[in-house]
Amino acid sequence: MSESNALTAQSTIGEWLAHPLGGELVRGLLAQTGATEDSLAPVSGLPLQQLVALSQGKMPQSVVDDLVRAANGGVIPEETESSGWVERTTPGRFAGKTVIVTGAASGIGRATASRVAREGGRVVAVDVSAERLAEFAASLPDADIVTVAGDITAQASIDEIVAAAGDRIDALANIAGINDDFSPLHETSDATWERVIAVNLTGSFKLARAVLPSMIEAGRGSIVNTASEAALRGNASGNAYTVSKHAVVGLTKSAAFMYGPAGIRVNAVAPGGVATGIPFPPNVSAAGQARLQPFQSGIPTLATAEQLAASITFLLSDDGVNVNGAILASDGGWSVQ
Ligand SMILES: NC(=O)c1ccc[n+]([C@@H]2O[C@H](COP(=O)([O-])OP(=O)(O)OC[C@H]3O[C@@H](n4cnc5c(N)ncnc54)[C@H](O)[C@@H]3O)[C@@H](O)[C@H]2O)c1
Repeated sequence: MSESNALTAQSTIGEWLAHPLGGELVRGLLAQTGATEDSLAPVSGLPLQQLVALSQGKMPQSVVDDLVRAANGGVIPEETESSGWVERTTPGRFAGKTVIVTGAASGIGRATASRVAREGGRVVAVDVSAERLAEFAASLPDADIVTVAGDITAQASIDEIVAAAGDRIDALANIAGINDDFSPLHETSDATWERVIAVNLTGSFKLARAVLPSMIEAGRGSIVNTASEAALRGNASGNAYTVSKHAVVGLTKSAAFMYGPAGIRVNAVAPGGVATGIPFPPNVSAAGQARLQPFQSGIPTLATAEQLAASITFLLSDDGVNVNGAILASDGGWSVQ
């Protein structure tokens, strides 16, 4: 916590709970929703502010502001340096490089695109949401960002992305992805299967296929795919998502093997739980959710999108020079449980 001992939106949830008044306030809020302190264990290391993103709209910013005011005699104190993890950029790490980032309008993709741009890269930011993409680009007015609003499952969008990137493509971060409905195999509908496989697997395959020729010609390149804890185990999500992310591991390893000699590195990151706005479909399988729930509550910690961007940009950049074919678990240690 800060030296002045003031609780702020950047103080961790653990710090709030350990504080006499802060703890009382947070427990009071939980009681209103019938939840207990235990439910916050996986997020105790995250800033209180993250609850807004985590709640996916259920907890507005005003609730955090009210908590901070209530803990500080009615005023919001100035933020001092947080005791938690703080993103520290490496200036110029991506200078002169063109990096394609999909899913750039939200969550992990946005944090990655932002970090690459702030480290001097030219970013080709791709997402289906034109509106959120424009908002992202506007948030970094001095950065070199080209936006492509498109669906990575459509060949026309893939062609548009490659055209926007131009002759030189140094790196590709395949981050766009969607959840399934937690359904076990016998309940999985054709629509869920086809869409989840199309976005999480086929989109990454098509875009990698499209950028590889220019990387092969240049004799260098870095591709980072997004797997998941669901690529490492069977109890992290439903059938379609688990299959799609296991397949992303295969996509990664095959390409890493094939193109290593050509100077191209292909790796994947396997995020654990991350505080983003990734939507769940409206009709989640009750049977699947009930079976998964006890295991999901064992997640050691949730990460922020910026923490995932730190792992992804490491692999994307020349810092990952000796890493090829790795599936980097960026999950606070979930995979060793
Ligand atoms: N959040 C987590 O806990 C978590 C855990 C493990 C893995 N992941 C993976 O990380 C990646 C990013 O997830 P997130 O949590 O940041 O999600 P998010 O929903 O916040 O962001 C994903 C972005 O991808 C975009 N997108 C979806 N389908 C697309 C398509 N067909 N074409 C182009 N863009 C499309 C969405 O519009 C959205 O902006 C996904 O691949 C997800 O499976 C997330």
